[in-house]
Amino acid sequence: MKLVLIGYMASGKSAIGKLLANKLNYQFIDLDDYIVSKENCSISELFKNKGEIYFRLKETEYLQVLLESKDNIVLSTGGGTPCYGNNMNIINKLSESIYLKSSVKTIYNRLLSEKDSRPLVASIKNDDLIEFIGKHLFERAPFYEQATSIIKTDKMNLDEVVDSILHR
Ligand code: S3P
Repeated sequence: MKLVLIGYMASGKSAIGKLLANKLNYQFIDLDDYIVSKENCSISELFKNKGEIYFRLKETEYLQVLLESKDNIVLSTGGGTPCYGNNMNIINKLSESIYLKSSVKTIYNRLLSEKDSRPLVASIKNDDLIEFIGKHLFERAPFYEQATSIIKTDKMNLDEVVDSILHR
């Protein structure tokens, strides 16, 4: 079985993915980390040196390669992965997808301290961040909502989210 975690930046995909994989005895793969290792370059540098379109093409390529070649994995994706190309169809055809749904406020509080490592929000002023997230999430939600399962994570800790996924 292949489980793919999707959701906005800072929605806990990697932390939850690691715990979930551990409980299931599955391999955990983080798509961003995989891209970094294959391209030998950080995500920020990739955006800066080769541009976002190059990143999106590689993201689709590696997503497909991983889902076609691996089994018994938990794959955590980037916040934009489901929203480009045919990615959401690829994900739903080849795996079970889980949308970790967080509110704008929760994402804002988490992203404030982690924004520098994320090229899409690094240059946004803290005062403008909540509005940016609100609009961006509104655009992306129709893709995220195509997931097989949706879990509202705002009031849960990491273990509770993992248990809720296992329960399903
Ligand atoms: C992105 C999210 C990032 C990373 C890249 C683009 C996005 O992943 O893939 O910076 O478009 O939302 P995280 O969701 O792990 O931050």
